[in-house]
Amino acid sequence: MKMSHGLPTTTATPSAAAAAGALITRVLRVASSDISFPPVPAATGHPRLDASPVIASADAKNALQEAARLLVAEDQVVAMPTETVYGLAGNARSTTAVSRIFAAKNRPSDNPLIVHVASLAMLRSFLPNREIPALHAALIDRFWPGPLTLLFPVADNSTLSPLVTAGQPTVGVRLPDHPVARALIATAGVPLAAPSANASGRPSPTLAKHVSEDLDGRIPLIIDGGRCEGGLESTVLQLDPYPLVLRPGGVTLEALRLVPGLENVECHIGVVDPSVAPSAPGMKYRHYSPTAEVHLVISDGARTVDHVLELLDQSPAETRIGWLQTRHYGPVESLPEKIQQAIASARLVVLDSSADPCVHFFSGLRELDEARVSTIVVQGLPEEGLGRAFMNRAKKAASLILT
Ligand code: TXA
Ligand code: MG
Repeated sequence: MKMSHGLPTTTATPSAAAAAGALITRVLRVASSDISFPPVPAATGHPRLDASPVIASADAKNALQEAARLLVAEDQVVAMPTETVYGLAGNARSTTAVSRIFAAKNRPSDNPLIVHVASLAMLRSFLPNREIPALHAALIDRFWPGPLTLLFPVADNSTLSPLVTAGQPTVGVRLPDHPVARALIATAGVPLAAPSANASGRPSPTLAKHVSEDLDGRIPLIIDGGRCEGGLESTVLQLDPYPLVLRPGGVTLEALRLVPGLENVECHIGVVDPSVAPSAPGMKYRHYSPTAEVHLVISDGARTVDHVLELLDQSPAETRIGWLQTRHYGPVESLPEKIQQAIASARLVVLDSSADPCVHFFSGLRELDEARVSTIVVQGLPEEGLGRAFMNRAKKAASLILT
């Protein structure tokens, strides 16, 4: 990206909400490089997935212990980095904690939360008969730790708060591939329910500062682990009564289809009508939207350039336009004269995310909002591989889709 921000410092930022008597949000930095997971002997458990964290620095240990104390002793919520986006974590066994997650995000209570575990032993603790079904086990072996959320049946006597599943017969679970998230769950010793740590409807956060923007004064602590490497959320996969991707994400459809039993797995087409009960509850809500309008151009790059020109012609001279470039357009000099002038006068703000469009999608929308543009033009990607996850988010963010 051409515009970028440094990491926030570890100081608290007093906000209007804090001044009004709400929480002070602290930010504590924990580096992934301070945490390792030495494999365990096969006799003790799964060599990779039952490994415990070794935390090298005292600062990291202190920060994680403070976060774990808030989570377990105080039923509080804490924002944590994951390999996809920042999550807003709370003890999945505590109804107080889970209601705080919904309240802090302003999230509709019928949209279930993903439960994050640190080990297979922790996963088994809430499954019927502590059993991992065979197809789930095959997927876990290939894709965990990582951005794949699997739906499991929930035991009747599960210790999870009923608010986590929001009335669904299943619970979505993943074991994240971020050392800080894994270490935090292990230190807390309880499964953590964690939706993305944005205010409901806003773009998901990929930096600690995005969490501050949305939740400052509403949560006590943000663990800052730097930029999330994936940038888009996990894939949500239903397995019963048949395999179906409910949300495309970091694990691609192509990769899933290589697993025996999933050769024909498809992506849910998505439900937009809010009166229809969706099988993936998150589908019916407006999502990922910055303040600016998003215009998604699905056809070729030339159409995108034309649309930028149209907006420059049609909007008042004082409005700024944003252009989130998902492909490289060559040197500025190769663009139409009018676009060059608009860039020079800062009427057109261009972010080049072509090197890694998925990583920079949500942060790009936030950066362009900060630049006070009225409209953000985004060029679509081919609907294959990670492009499916990108297009799923881009379509939900868009108020206008041009084909
Ligand atoms: O990468 C991620 O998945 C991030 C990080 C923090 O782990 N989390 C995340 O959570 O994106 P959230 O709450 O923003 O999105 C979870 C999605 C929602 O669309 C929800 O409806 C769906 O997963 N979901 C969760 N549990 C489900 C269930 N039991 N059945 C169907 N859909 C479920
Ligand atoms: Mg979300």
